[in-house]
Amino acid sequence: MASRGAFSNKLGFILAAAGSAVGLGNIWKFPFEVGNGGGAAFVVLYLFFCFLLCFPVMISEIAIGRKTLRNPVGAFNELGFRNWRFVGMLGLFCGVLILSFYNVVAGWAFGYFIEMLFANFDVGSQFGDYIKDITKVGFYAILFMLTTAFIVSKGVSGGIEKAAKILMPTLIIMILGLVAYATTLPNAMKGISFYLVPDFSEINITVIGGALRQAFFSLSLGMGALITYGSYVSKNDNIISSAAYITLMDVGIAFIAGLMIFPFVAFNLGGDMTQVSEPGFGGPGLIFVTLPGVFATLGSTWGVIVGSFFFLLLSFAALTSTVSLLEVPVAYVVDEHKVNRNKAVWIVALIIFVIGIPSLLSGGYSEFLSNFSRIIGVPDVIDSDFLSFVAATADVLLLLGGCLIVFFAGYIWKKKNLHEEIAQGFNGYENSFVKKFLDFAVTILSPVVLAILFILVLLNNFFGITLI
Ligand code: PHE
Repeated sequence: MASRGAFSNKLGFILAAAGSAVGLGNIWKFPFEVGNGGGAAFVVLYLFFCFLLCFPVMISEIAIGRKTLRNPVGAFNELGFRNWRFVGMLGLFCGVLILSFYNVVAGWAFGYFIEMLFANFDVGSQFGDYIKDITKVGFYAILFMLTTAFIVSKGVSGGIEKAAKILMPTLIIMILGLVAYATTLPNAMKGISFYLVPDFSEINITVIGGALRQAFFSLSLGMGALITYGSYVSKNDNIISSAAYITLMDVGIAFIAGLMIFPFVAFNLGGDMTQVSEPGFGGPGLIFVTLPGVFATLGSTWGVIVGSFFFLLLSFAALTSTVSLLEVPVAYVVDEHKVNRNKAVWIVALIIFVIGIPSLLSGGYSEFLSNFSRIIGVPDVIDSDFLSFVAATADVLLLLGGCLIVFFAGYIWKKKNLHEEIAQGFNGYENSFVKKFLDFAVTILSPVVLAILFILVLLNNFFGITLI
């Protein structure tokens, strides 16, 4: 399968998969979900879900991908379970939905890079007007999709790997620097305690659902992105340790992003953290509203340097994720419909861009799309705009996909085969603790708990029905 491309080494795969995982989900979405979910209790649940429930799903995805060398739809076929192709299809659909709105937000991030270059720190307080300006955000969204498509058309190891290797560590250092700065600001401790001192009475199904959705989204799970990436992994690689690195890196970056944002938020709000979940401040605007003002406090020279660099790196982090999102449907079209890769890339990118237009218009430009959930009468998960609605829908579908994938691995493909695949590249797997854990996790823990939570979250998020 040389023509499909392969990662040059294990580090290449880990960095690329972590590149998929680390993105707007960690730095843009995680903080506002935490804000909306009441703070530290959400964080505790999120960590718990990532390490216990999601980890087995991640292993299953990578193992299925590496075993079959296929895209998510082809993978089920290849294993001999044609009836399960629908899970792959669901994944494709989900990926398309995600990329459609993700590209819009990535465009905002890149646009902010330009604004910071011109020292326009006021853009934070004018965020609402900024995303309404359709020529501007439309232009950046087009630019972002073109860049993504260009990289994907260049093939797997060339584009994705190289970018991820340099940029990820830079981003981490940059965030850590900002964390250090954040702690020197007035009211910083109020932000930190909101973020780190849990109040478990805050927990309800909305918060649980938010944390679980966030875990799936952030780890790029449930839609076959890692089936696709797994198909490029060598048989000598250890799937378990790779998955552990990816999870730790992703969770670690989200965690430090929170450490950075909440002191800033507390500083901006004069210590009154109750406003974090309020519309106009919290929600999808959180980092876009908060950060420019903070950069302004650095003075014009440092503000421009730090601010523009930050949003540039954020755009790159988003790019390694958009690349993985586009790669999934492209791999499908190339493998299953024998379309030339280049052609597949540009057609799929165009279609997804068009699907993203309503999200683009839902930042205030279109009255209807900006108040979508309220008008059609579904509860707001985060906000009422169409972009938030699509994001919430995709998130819930990721849960369903993840649940089905892990169920498939445990019961249909059978855990014996899963174990066999994992054992390649892992000496001593047979008697390891991990094997025992996975044995339990892929048959009971993950499928059962995910199925229950999926139903509860679906009812709560879309029908306003709260069973527990
Ligand atoms: N995990 C990515 C992020 O956190 C988003 C993503 C989701 C990418 C699903 C691929 C698949 O930004």
